[in-house]
Amino acid sequence: MLKSLANKVAIVTGAATGIGLESARVLAEHGATVVLADIDATGVEHAAALLVREGLAAFPLAFDLTDEAQIAASVCQVVEKYGRIDIVHNNAAIQTNAQRAGDRDVINIETSAWDAAMAVNVRGPMLLCKHALPVMISNGGGSIIHSSSGFGLLGEVTLTAYGSSKAALINLSRFIATQYGKSGIRSNVVAIGFVLTQNAIESTPQAVKDILLQHTLNPTLGTPRNIADVVAFLASDKSVFINGALIPVDGGFTAHQPSVVHFQELFASAGSNQL
Ligand SMILES: NC(=O)c1ccc[n+]([C@@H]2O[C@H](COP(=O)([O-])OP(=O)(O)OC[C@H]3O[C@@H](n4cnc5c(N)ncnc54)[C@H](O)[C@@H]3O)[C@@H](O)[C@H]2O)c1
Repeated sequence: MLKSLANKVAIVTGAATGIGLESARVLAEHGATVVLADIDATGVEHAAALLVREGLAAFPLAFDLTDEAQIAASVCQVVEKYGRIDIVHNNAAIQTNAQRAGDRDVINIETSAWDAAMAVNVRGPMLLCKHALPVMISNGGGSIIHSSSGFGLLGEVTLTAYGSSKAALINLSRFIATQYGKSGIRSNVVAIGFVLTQNAIESTPQAVKDILLQHTLNPTLGTPRNIADVVAFLASDKSVFINGALIPVDGGFTAHQPSVVHFQELFASAGSNQL
């Protein structure tokens, strides 16, 4: 049987690791030729080589999402090599330790952290779309998926720049869907909940994981595959009538009342959930 993404060419940003690498893997498993893009040239080469060893069509491409000239040149390279672009997964984000250290509450935020979050997390995806959209439209359309976050939907006590950039990404997606839907372009957002990437497993304190799990309606925290499967669905024609949508992929983290954990504790101690 023909695979759902056969003959499609995909670009996945932030593909050296984590969710981006898994997204590239799953898109390729569904038959796409996948360009793994990242600022980390060595990392993305290793990632693509790993997928090739798994028998998948994967190619590395190093570029910096803050640099429009590099983005334009990279899109040209993809077109020269594969002749088309059908799928873009805007997944990269700046999440280094230095970035997190500077990205705090508004009074204490380092302005450079704000600028970096906006440059990588929302200006970069806009620029990639600016250069990829004409190619996608010329080959009849395609699907763009953006990795946003629960931080883009609701307030938090820290990571102000990250959350604000992820909120902007959500509306960028809607603008793209509105402007190019009639040209066959679909643009959708996955609002990702906490996912146990290798980095997250190693760097997130257990106390934080415990809090996040308490608020997750599913029995377990998410995996990169949980996100990648939804990305592959949104990339395929199976989701052809979904456009401009925001889809939480978070095990129900943003589906419940903020007070739910406190009520669970109260009801447990009272022995009844009668209000
Ligand atoms: N992991 C989670 O729990 C989680 C939760 C919510 C949302 N998300 C979102 O999902 C996406 C992937 O998350 P992850 O945890 O796999 O991320 P990650 O930090 O492991 O990987 C991000 C990748 O982006 C690349 N990158 C950073 N700056 C770049 C630039 N200027 N140009 C090109 N590439 C650049 C990095 O090199 C890295 O490989 C991100 O957008 C993140 O905000 C993740």
